[in-house]
Amino acid sequence: MKKIILSFFIVASLFFNLRADEGMWIPMLLQNNEQEMQEMGMNITVEDIYSINHSSMKDAVVLFDGGCTGEIVSDQGLLLTNHHCGFDWIQYHSTVEHDYLTHGFWAMSKEEELPCPGISAVMLKSMEDVTERVLEGVTKETSNDERAEIVTANIKRIKEEAEANSDYQVIIKSFYHGNKYYMIYNEVFKDVRMVGAPPSNIGKFGGDTDNWVWPRHTGDFSVFRIYVSPDGKAADYSEDNVPYTPNYHFPISLKGADEGDFTFVFGYPARTNEYLPAVAVNQEANIIYPISVDLRGKILDIYNKYQEKDPKVRIQYASKHAGLGNGWKKWMGVIEGINNFKGIQKKKNFDRKFTEWALESRQRGAYLNLIKDFEKLYAEYEPYRLATTYLSETALQIEILTFAANFKGLSQVTKDTPQEEIDELIAEAKAATSVFFKDYHQPIDEEVAAMVLQEYINNQPQDFRPELLNTIVEKYDNVQAYVDELFAKTMFTSQENVNKFLDEFKPSKAKKLAKDPALMAYNNVMDFYINNVRAKTIELGNQIADMQRVFMRGQMEYHADQNPDKMMYPDANFTLRVTYGKIGGFKPKDAVTYKHFTTLDGIMQKENPDIYDYVVTDRLRELYEAKDYGRYADKDGSMHVAFIAGNHTTGGNSGSPILNADGHLLGLNFDRTWEGTMSDLIYDPSICRNISVDIRYVLFIIDKYAGASYLIDEMTIIE
Ligand code: ARG
Ligand code: ASP
Repeated sequence: MKKIILSFFIVASLFFNLRADEGMWIPMLLQNNEQEMQEMGMNITVEDIYSINHSSMKDAVVLFDGGCTGEIVSDQGLLLTNHHCGFDWIQYHSTVEHDYLTHGFWAMSKEEELPCPGISAVMLKSMEDVTERVLEGVTKETSNDERAEIVTANIKRIKEEAEANSDYQVIIKSFYHGNKYYMIYNEVFKDVRMVGAPPSNIGKFGGDTDNWVWPRHTGDFSVFRIYVSPDGKAADYSEDNVPYTPNYHFPISLKGADEGDFTFVFGYPARTNEYLPAVAVNQEANIIYPISVDLRGKILDIYNKYQEKDPKVRIQYASKHAGLGNGWKKWMGVIEGINNFKGIQKKKNFDRKFTEWALESRQRGAYLNLIKDFEKLYAEYEPYRLATTYLSETALQIEILTFAANFKGLSQVTKDTPQEEIDELIAEAKAATSVFFKDYHQPIDEEVAAMVLQEYINNQPQDFRPELLNTIVEKYDNVQAYVDELFAKTMFTSQENVNKFLDEFKPSKAKKLAKDPALMAYNNVMDFYINNVRAKTIELGNQIADMQRVFMRGQMEYHADQNPDKMMYPDANFTLRVTYGKIGGFKPKDAVTYKHFTTLDGIMQKENPDIYDYVVTDRLRELYEAKDYGRYADKDGSMHVAFIAGNHTTGGNSGSPILNADGHLLGLNFDRTWEGTMSDLIYDPSICRNISVDIRYVLFIIDKYAGASYLIDEMTIIE
């Protein structure tokens, strides 16, 4: 694998004079990469990046709100992340009178910063290898089931011991698919306040149209601040809390970066699968993703049709559209990327070489039949994967069914159910009702329902069809007839009826509720899943995981044989990682070349007051026309907005700092180019690029656009 990539990479570098490097490295082990990083241009040491003995950059990087990355940029705990990462909080604080999503928000003093109940920022304090302790008692003879039990028990014990001696959060994570375990100590900050956000037509400029796409012009940032108790400790929200004094904050560079410059990204990548056998990648990319892409494409077409007709529907379905569309677009990129790269063939070649290598020595007996066994196991797994995919991409996309699911508990109430419990169920159902109807457009749901049910019927074999599908086929003239009846008879299409029902609810009404056709349909498909699909999916999934652990161990040995001086990196698992690569454009296809940065000119070119994603405010246009960029202009005189580089990133890296050779902040990572989204399965340095918003554009918006220059005063700016 590595060899293939390296040779490809040499070819690629001849063309683009660019060295994009694969790998998401554990900061604690970065020593192994130091020489390479410095050869690529880094001016600092890895001790500057990660140290437990003195302050280092790791003290300024956090897991933001459980899903993104954020970085500290002042000695008063000021934090930057993406707009799409802070989005929920911007929305949370928005009202019709104070619509921060539309107009942006800027606290003009610390008193105006807004608390965010339930938010978190997690900072790694230290980590240690606990593999031996976790695997204590596991021998060559231990069965997989026993092993799982031993590992679970050991982890519990080690964690409890560590927690007893520490104020920090302790987690133990598996790396290299169960071949290594690390214990991580975290400080968990819970008082994090919202400080600022640009209007959505800057922070989300290009919207879903431009999502995953280069060239990009999104000012994807928002600003928060960490607060701690007066004695400096992480604490729950309190008025008495004070801004956090970090051990380190990132200096910000106004110098920009040129093609070929060294960069690195420090953050929390969520999940990758770089070490799968060919059969698994093929299943994912050529069997599962095409189904999801096809079905989501059809649903999105229906959304679009109604969204274009009615501005209210446009807003109502914006978030649903973004959710479905993010995966839809990404997977299209994965499929195309893997095909263009001949990814399956390359994986197959590796599998063959691996098996040949296993044949060379008797000690490698455990690896001999792995590839064949994987093929058998994945073949057995496939119908279950399909069943799960069809269920989730068809029936569970019918909104009225998943809404009805909120009433399942009430439908099971009896006269013996305590009133307290009933009241709680009613309260939950009421909350779900108001959320649901705010963004519900029934004609969309009816059209989606008819389409997805037909697809479900057409594409799932008899053994994997919930009874509902057979009923539709046997008892109705066609799917439409069933859907018409469903929507005519269910109570769940009317907010008024649902609320009335809840207000008057008594246990004697539970039976009637259980007969509602939408709830019945939901129960039917879910019961089928639970009884016929779930257990087997878990069982096969565990078998695959056990086999993957052995395959991973084999690949590590194989790699050590072929390439002794470079380590293998572990798949992403939501732990802190460093990845590095150089700034540079790429050639997405024949005759097309992409430059490595975009400018404000591009925003003006895309501007279209009639297209929601491309609206530009007068204020931004004025600044553009006056070329009033101050010290944030590039040396070429223009305002740079975004740039791409060859850093190996994935979901969760959003908001990560992208740093230059001196460790100064150049921008915030927020996306990848969709030609390269296959990087979660196979990394191809010629087309895989991460997209970042230029820090100078961020500061320009904060300072010149929003007039919040007092925030800039807190930062350490390197001109
Ligand atoms: N594609 C990016 C990611 O996976 C950004 C998503 C948010 N932006 C958007 N336009 N939907 O998270
Ligand atoms: N947009 C992703 C995120 O939100 C980053 C990526 O997948 O490249 O984490």
